[in-house]
Amino acid sequence: MNILSIESSCDDTSVAILQDGRKICSNLISSQIEVHRLFGGVVPEIASRRHLESVNRLLAEAFREAAMTVKDIDLVAVTRGPGLVGALLVGISAAKAISYVRGIPIVGVNHMEGHVSANFIASPDLEPPFHTLVVSGGHTYLCTVADYASFQVVGSTVDDAAGECLDKVARVLGLGYPGGPAIQKIAEQGNPDAFSFPRAMMRVEDGLQMSFSGLKTAVMQAVRKIQQSGEAIPVADLAASVQKAVVDALIKKSVRLMEENPLPAFCLSGGVAANALLRDEMAQACKERGIQFHVPPAVLCTDNAAMIGAAGYFRYKKDGADDLNFVADPDLSL
Ligand code: KG4
Ligand code: ZN
Repeated sequence: MNILSIESSCDDTSVAILQDGRKICSNLISSQIEVHRLFGGVVPEIASRRHLESVNRLLAEAFREAAMTVKDIDLVAVTRGPGLVGALLVGISAAKAISYVRGIPIVGVNHMEGHVSANFIASPDLEPPFHTLVVSGGHTYLCTVADYASFQVVGSTVDDAAGECLDKVARVLGLGYPGGPAIQKIAEQGNPDAFSFPRAMMRVEDGLQMSFSGLKTAVMQAVRKIQQSGEAIPVADLAASVQKAVVDALIKKSVRLMEENPLPAFCLSGGVAANALLRDEMAQACKERGIQFHVPPAVLCTDNAAMIGAAGYFRYKKDGADDLNFVADPDLSL
């Protein structure tokens, strides 16, 4: 089965063609980072306009790279939510047009299911059941994947997402947008033990819930104190310390899940899964417990259409096609 997939939930326009949900024939990503960087974050209206300008060109390139035409496509998959509504509408409209005109079944995909499903592409032998930590700019979930297209959220953040925390701290430190990669880069020159930032909700009764907004406040207070003292802001030390605090919290909660409910495999996914420290520490935590560890390459961790094609394939096999009347859902949860 050849799947054409489109992702336009935030600031990346992406079109992919996949075979049987696991093999990439093409996966084109057009990033809008340069334009949003000027504003310090994603401007929704600009994002929608950019998607509109890019989507047809990417569709043409995806077919060319896969050496296919629309006649070869058996299923259209598109991100339905969560995301920016105007941005989502561009991808959904393009996908519906192709589905309607060519009579191809369509499936609306949860973006977070997409992130997890990037692991099916990266690890061709991966099969449920497994646990997963999905960490993106807007969401932080611990999830049990009991079967294909069957996701049970077992833990999540009660406030900011892990990526959102890194992005906000990066802004305070003057590191620009997107914050996560900038923090990782400058943290290489910093001391992760220079500041002892809080790891919130670590009591037994907090279970698998997480919290990152206090961390952002703690960094802001530390910066203010240093500014008042007139000393230079130790940006690399602050970045290394906050990165360590975020990773520590994510690892502790993931390990709690692995130990409470042992499953053979653990998968990491979402944009923050591109972070080298998180990847290394999660690999080590899994190794110590004899659990298989999976994480996609960085390009499949951040937003891309291939992951939407993978999730769409398994969702279609489980539930069949969607009606063409389905709508964008900016607040869609897992
Ligand atoms: O999944 P994603 O590309 O978009 C959303 O669905 O939100 O995730 C974007 C998030 C941003 O918060 C970004 O700062 C973070 O992923 N991120 C990283 C890294 N690369 C992207 N965070 C830490 N280290 C990285 N290398
Ligand atoms: Zn994402």
